[in-house]
Amino acid sequence: MTAQTPQVTLNNGVQMPILGFGVYQIPPEQTEQTVTDALAAGYRHIDTAAAYANEDAVGRAIAASGIPRDELFVTTKLWIQANGDNTKRAFDASLQRLGLDYVDLYLIHQPLGDYYSEWRAMQELNRQGVARAIGVSNFYPDRLVDLIANNEITPAVNQVETHPFFQRTADQELMREHGVQIESWGGFAEGKNDLFTHSTLSEIGAAHGKSVAQVVLRWLTQRGVIAIPKSVRPERMAENIDIFDFQLTDAEMAHIAALDTGASLFFDHRDPAMVTWLNGRRDN
Ligand SMILES: NC(=O)c1ccc[n+]([C@@H]2O[C@H](COP(=O)([O-])OP(=O)(O)OC[C@H]3O[C@@H](n4cnc5c(N)ncnc54)[C@H](OP(=O)(O)O)[C@@H]3O)[C@@H](O)[C@H]2O)c1
Repeated sequence: MTAQTPQVTLNNGVQMPILGFGVYQIPPEQTEQTVTDALAAGYRHIDTAAAYANEDAVGRAIAASGIPRDELFVTTKLWIQANGDNTKRAFDASLQRLGLDYVDLYLIHQPLGDYYSEWRAMQELNRQGVARAIGVSNFYPDRLVDLIANNEITPAVNQVETHPFFQRTADQELMREHGVQIESWGGFAEGKNDLFTHSTLSEIGAAHGKSVAQVVLRWLTQRGVIAIPKSVRPERMAENIDIFDFQLTDAEMAHIAALDTGASLFFDHRDPAMVTWLNGRRDN
């Protein structure tokens, strides 16, 4: 990772840049150029998923960059599977699309399907060294604690919706108690609630000569939350990585804390209709 980006140490000792680049909803035909631009802007941590249908484009951009593999941190995610054999096949397919021989972090994308079999297969991948760290995504505390209680390896990371309107502070504390690193998805809430023109965030930004986006990313990382903003625009990529030269005061952190609604702006993974819809996207 570039010298300026701080790292967090995961529960198995693996170092992970606290700021990365997300590629969700980037059209496959635009992803190679976008990731090429992100790498040029200094990002060394890329977050993709089998479900984003752009792992191959991420892989092409990585290969073309010439950046040594050990300077990159690549995360991908397993879509809902029926058993452990499918999990290993899905992992091999992701590696092949990415053109890599290992990933730095492999996540269970959803707490759905036979994720206990998925986890046992992922533990093997981790022991083999082809997934340097393994973790989960979208796990509410009850599911996370149960997974930990019934398996050998504790997830290194739980990637969950986390932004100023849904801050997950109690969830973060519980994860910390169990040695699980919180990672934010949708750190900008994808712009919902007029985030980028929000008055409180704009005022704090003005006090530091920084944008709302920079305030949000600074707030996340200052809380110890890994952030993976997505942008297809090089000027915003540069803006979003330029957050390590200022610090929010305790009063500013408290003002942002007051914006928490405690509820998702997207959907609830415990909603039966959503569970049905997500399972409908299974390809096995
Ligand atoms: N595990 C999961 O289930 C899950 C779910 C969702 C997301 N994720 C991961 O989290 C990553 C980030 O979340 P996200 O992509 O959903 O949304 P996000 O990062 O919260 O927001 C992205 C939006 O913000 C805009 N934007 C970016 N930088 C900006 C700036 N400086 N000023 C103004 N607008 C800006 C982008 O537009 P432009 O692109 O036009 O700049 C885009 O519309 C994803 O890419 C993915 O890797 C994971």
